[in-house]
Amino acid sequence: MDSLWTDRIAAGALGMRSSAIRDLLKLTTQPTMISFAGGLPAPELFPAEELAAASAHALAEAPLATLQYGPTEGFGPLRELVANWVGRLGIRAPTDQVLITAGSQQGLDMLGRLLIDPGAPVAVEEPTYLGALQAWQTCQPHYLRLPIDEDGLDVDALEALLASGVRPRFLYIVSCFQNPTGVTLAPERRVRLVELAARYQLPIVEDDPYGELYYGGQRSTPLAAIDIAMHGEPRYVVYLGTLSKLLAPGLRVGWIVAPRTLVDRLVMLKQGLDLHTGSMAQAVAYYACRDGLLDRHIPRLRALYGERRDAMLAALASERALPVGTRWTRPDGGMFLWLTLPAEDDAEALLARALAEQVAFVPGRQFHPGGGGANTLRLNFSHSGPPQIAEGVRRIGAALRVHA
Ligand SMILES: Cc1ncc(COP(=O)(O)O)c(C=O)c1O
Repeated sequence: MDSLWTDRIAAGALGMRSSAIRDLLKLTTQPTMISFAGGLPAPELFPAEELAAASAHALAEAPLATLQYGPTEGFGPLRELVANWVGRLGIRAPTDQVLITAGSQQGLDMLGRLLIDPGAPVAVEEPTYLGALQAWQTCQPHYLRLPIDEDGLDVDALEALLASGVRPRFLYIVSCFQNPTGVTLAPERRVRLVELAARYQLPIVEDDPYGELYYGGQRSTPLAAIDIAMHGEPRYVVYLGTLSKLLAPGLRVGWIVAPRTLVDRLVMLKQGLDLHTGSMAQAVAYYACRDGLLDRHIPRLRALYGERRDAMLAALASERALPVGTRWTRPDGGMFLWLTLPAEDDAEALLARALAEQVAFVPGRQFHPGGGGANTLRLNFSHSGPPQIAEGVRRIGAALRVHA
């Protein structure tokens, strides 16, 4: 009887694994635990009052659009608002090429369903976003793993791959303040990448949830904007954005800006997945953003997260228990930094000791489709305040000393 359902699991779903992060998040709800594990926004900055006002507005002004079934493509005024929002970045695409999704995670899922056959080659940065690997588990791609450095994707390595005749279904890239490492693709690499896409007919999936969260410097030009500047329309780059890190992940509102050739297929796919993204969330997002919330709120996020990033860098710089040779990234934005221990160290073993010290992080192996990175780990700096960050890094030091 026990096997009634389990014997019938489809072949593609047999290899599914639970996300280590989501499992860890359950552990880290204890009040004494300091968690650098999740990619959680700072809860004290959630714009709850503004969203409550937007919700009241939506229900009063547009009860049908808020409560009724809606178009699969998304709530029209929100699509237009998103088209204007990304248009400021140079992603000038007609509103009918902007689709609203249930977070960018759904965009990743849809693209996997649409573009990946079992065994199909998909080029990814290594390490890369764990949620993308999870989204594509049942599609069973063959990952072509490309190295990254402080300037993001190693475009030479990609060019060598393409020149050797390999034709990935697409390249997946988190172009700004990458999850998990915090690195950003350098401007000259951006241009080269889009040129390569055109030369080798390489589709690119650009996932950009963090681009607005820069702490000094300026907004990087999305690959999608470079694509449009070069080709007059979105041609090689599909662009994914989201309100999760800018307002609240609970809204589950994101978007895809897609080349015209993909739009209809994405819509047909979404019809079967969820009919449409929740009307209520879309209407709340629209009324909140129409009233300028993003422009008011993003500077608050930048100020707070910038301080926290600095607090974590300072704590790491002064932590004496880090083994000689330990390195970490110094991200100009986003929510994460990436720590590399000496080659012989194991971050999963360290995590077990760290949890005993009441501090959590994500071991880096999770983000490596090829299973490397045992000596690396991801630290989130957006969720905890500076005193907890200092204390959490001290606890990691204590866990390292247990080992020594
Ligand atoms: C790179 C990346 N892509 C996508 C997502 C998913 O975001 P959303 O909440 O919009 O689904 C995340 C969330 O952490 C992320 O880091």
